[in-house]
Amino acid sequence: MNPHTLPKKRELGAYYTPPALSQVLADWAIKNANDNILEPSFGGCGFFDSSITRLKDLGCLSPDRQLFGVDIDQNAFDILHSKFHKLVSIQKRFLKNDFIKIEPCDFSISKFDVVLGNPPYVSMHNMTQEQRKSCEMILRNSPFSSFTLGRNASLWAFFLLHSLVFLKDGGRVAWVLPSSLLHADYAKKLIAIHRKHFKVLKIIKLAERFFREEGAKETSVILIAEGFDSKGKDECLFTVKAADDLLELRDAITMASNSSHMEIDDFKLAYIPEYIRNIYQTVSFRKESKPLSHYLDIKIGMVTGANKLFIINKDTVKQFALPSCVLKPIVGRFSSLTGIRHTKPRQEKIQSEGHRAFLVNPSQLQINENVVREYLTQITEEEKRKNRTFKKRPNWFEPDYGIDSIIPDGFLSYMIHRGPRIVINQGRVNCTNSIHKVLGYS
Ligand SMILES: C[S@@+](CC[C@H](N)C(=O)[O-])C[C@H]1O[C@@H](n2cnc3c(N)ncnc32)[C@H](O)[C@@H]1O
Repeated sequence: MNPHTLPKKRELGAYYTPPALSQVLADWAIKNANDNILEPSFGGCGFFDSSITRLKDLGCLSPDRQLFGVDIDQNAFDILHSKFHKLVSIQKRFLKNDFIKIEPCDFSISKFDVVLGNPPYVSMHNMTQEQRKSCEMILRNSPFSSFTLGRNASLWAFFLLHSLVFLKDGGRVAWVLPSSLLHADYAKKLIAIHRKHFKVLKIIKLAERFFREEGAKETSVILIAEGFDSKGKDECLFTVKAADDLLELRDAITMASNSSHMEIDDFKLAYIPEYIRNIYQTVSFRKESKPLSHYLDIKIGMVTGANKLFIINKDTVKQFALPSCVLKPIVGRFSSLTGIRHTKPRQEKIQSEGHRAFLVNPSQLQINENVVREYLTQITEEEKRKNRTFKKRPNWFEPDYGIDSIIPDGFLSYMIHRGPRIVINQGRVNCTNSIHKVLGYS
């Protein structure tokens, strides 16, 4: 059972994998009774349990001797100890540290047949300064980072890149990943790295929200790869599929791969049912079909640098007695928008319903008012100093500045698992960076 509260889960990215899912992946990844297995963020030990079951099925007599792992959280070690109390020593086998800082020589064996797990989903913005530095080191030093991920990558992407250093030639990886594997630019580069170094690569989008009970908001995507070659290969069989449930996932994983020429930009289309893909392609090849950018300019919404502080709901306004002169209306989340247009009355409605739809935006003069000053002290001097976004505007406490203050003509949904939707902004309200701004060309 996951011992963490929801905020702690978010901080550590600690959403434990359901046992039925880790079993499907362990069954695929572990091929031999003597395989050595590395789990770089073992958390609730679910992948260890599944690996033991698989190794036993293959005839291994002491499967727990072949398990190795890392986690940064003491709770993971408490679970490890309570499960495997008979383990004599955790030395050089289970390491309490940041995986990004671990090197192969830290373990009693330096290469593994299998690396598998579900790495922490922590965005670059939520990483500590120290963590970012470690990730930059990986980018600079990894022998596999020929397609550089860039600094915006989330922690899970660095986990995948770093894991390759621990893998034997011929080895396998099996990962549970967030849906940003299908959207983010850095993920494309990570996929290119895997295509260069594996014989077979499969990506399977899970339709079910496997982690709903755990409180994770993301849908999950599985990445499995086999036939690792540290020097790089000429060709990789690359397939992308979708699975509605675990049975379909098992089928998709075991099915032979046949496609090798898919372009990275096209791979998202591969998991759409074929008849829909055909319609999409027919429509997009018509001469009158143009990309959205032909008609509209699409920009990211306002970047405040600290949405928790600047984008608030009516309860926070009340709690801190913030005066209306320091507040502006804003749309904090796309899910607050109903219908095809957003008007002033609708903005008032979402505010009164408790949505985070107020922007705190005091002027230089207003921050001298006691209540405002007290509200802003929630952010420490050190946090202010380290915040890169704050440095980009003259007053860190005034996010409604420059291009961020442009009021969009409409809102476009951004990274949600439903289809895209545009809402017309009749109320002339700004929006945060969890929404795309739509601007008409003048
Ligand atoms: C998504 S959970 C998955 C846990 C486990 N792999 C599973 O599938 O159930 C991510 C785990 O990463 C751990 N973690 C977070 N940051 C880490 C880091 N820098 N190094 C190692 N583990 C880390 C968390 O404590 C958590 O146990």
